[in-house]
Amino acid sequence: MQIYMPTNIYSENQCVRNHSKELAALGNKALIVTGKHSSKINGSLEDVQKALQEEHISFVVFDSIEENPSIETVMAATEIGIKENVDFVIGIGGGSPMDAAKAIALMIANPQEKEDVLYEKRELMALPVAEIPTTAGTGSEVTPYAILTIHARRTKQSISHKIYPRLALIDSRYLKSARLNTLIDTAVDALAHLIESYLNTNANAYNRMYAEKGLLVFAEIKEELMQCRRLGKEPVLTLTDGVFDRLMQMAATAGMAITHTGTSLPHGLSYPITYEMKVSHGKAVGIFLPGFLKYYQQREDVQSVLDRMGFENVEAFTEYLDALLGKVEISDKLWQEDVKAIMENQAKLKNYPFEMEEETLYAFRR
Ligand SMILES: [Fe+2]
Repeated sequence: MQIYMPTNIYSENQCVRNHSKELAALGNKALIVTGKHSSKINGSLEDVQKALQEEHISFVVFDSIEENPSIETVMAATEIGIKENVDFVIGIGGGSPMDAAKAIALMIANPQEKEDVLYEKRELMALPVAEIPTTAGTGSEVTPYAILTIHARRTKQSISHKIYPRLALIDSRYLKSARLNTLIDTAVDALAHLIESYLNTNANAYNRMYAEKGLLVFAEIKEELMQCRRLGKEPVLTLTDGVFDRLMQMAATAGMAITHTGTSLPHGLSYPITYEMKVSHGKAVGIFLPGFLKYYQQREDVQSVLDRMGFENVEAFTEYLDALLGKVEISDKLWQEDVKAIMENQAKLKNYPFEMEEETLYAFRR
């Protein structure tokens, strides 16, 4: 068994300001990578800029990362980073800017390489990366993964390189301005990470500790999340500070879980749904969680997951998830293509510990 979790993580109120010295220690000039709006609204961008100014570290901001970032966007930011001579990268936002920051850090450190290198299995160094999450879902602040959209293949895929952030600064205040659907969909993404890590070929007694803890945290807040959905108001009006803290904790813990195991079939099946139907990542993954639990062959392990989440059986979990997320209708054509692609995706199939039959996979759609 092996456990390796190298990211230096601070999770606390005002942690960007409190740990400006650690942030500044990563280099002499930063490229801040973020989306167009949310980091300006929730105060995270301003906090980072102030922290760097206080430490006399110069920076440039690239704020054009789109949802499900493309290779083209990564290369546009890379060009700026090279021109500006930056020597570290700070990702601020949800999974999209944080994943993009890792890919950009790799490309800036290897200016002689073309974008193809992102998906080549080669040992390459990346610039140091710091991540500041403003959603509670992806866990990208602690994982070595970076998932990009490949338009040529009409899907998303993790790059071949593992880039661990040096520093993760987690402040749940940034989550308070998250919109209702974003908060819920990203929470389901984190939940999927926990489930797919626990029920995984690579799960072992050490790395299951993360998933076990995260599932227990989810159990503590699942009714508050449902209440938030029922009321239909923005989360800040209905959730307490403690729930925002736990959501961030659940997402980071789930990130640590998948760092060791990778994800499994629900994630693999979700990517074409997100690409073709523009369904958010968390919601697209959530579609397949009930089927994954229903057909997973090791029933004691499934029951352990359900017990920790506080559900009696798969049916109760399915009912909860349907009420939380709503349903998504997937066309027969897209579904057939999706199943076919997974049956040929050895990387995802190998994380499922049993033989997967095409017919069983078809039944995952509800
Ligand atoms: Fe995910």
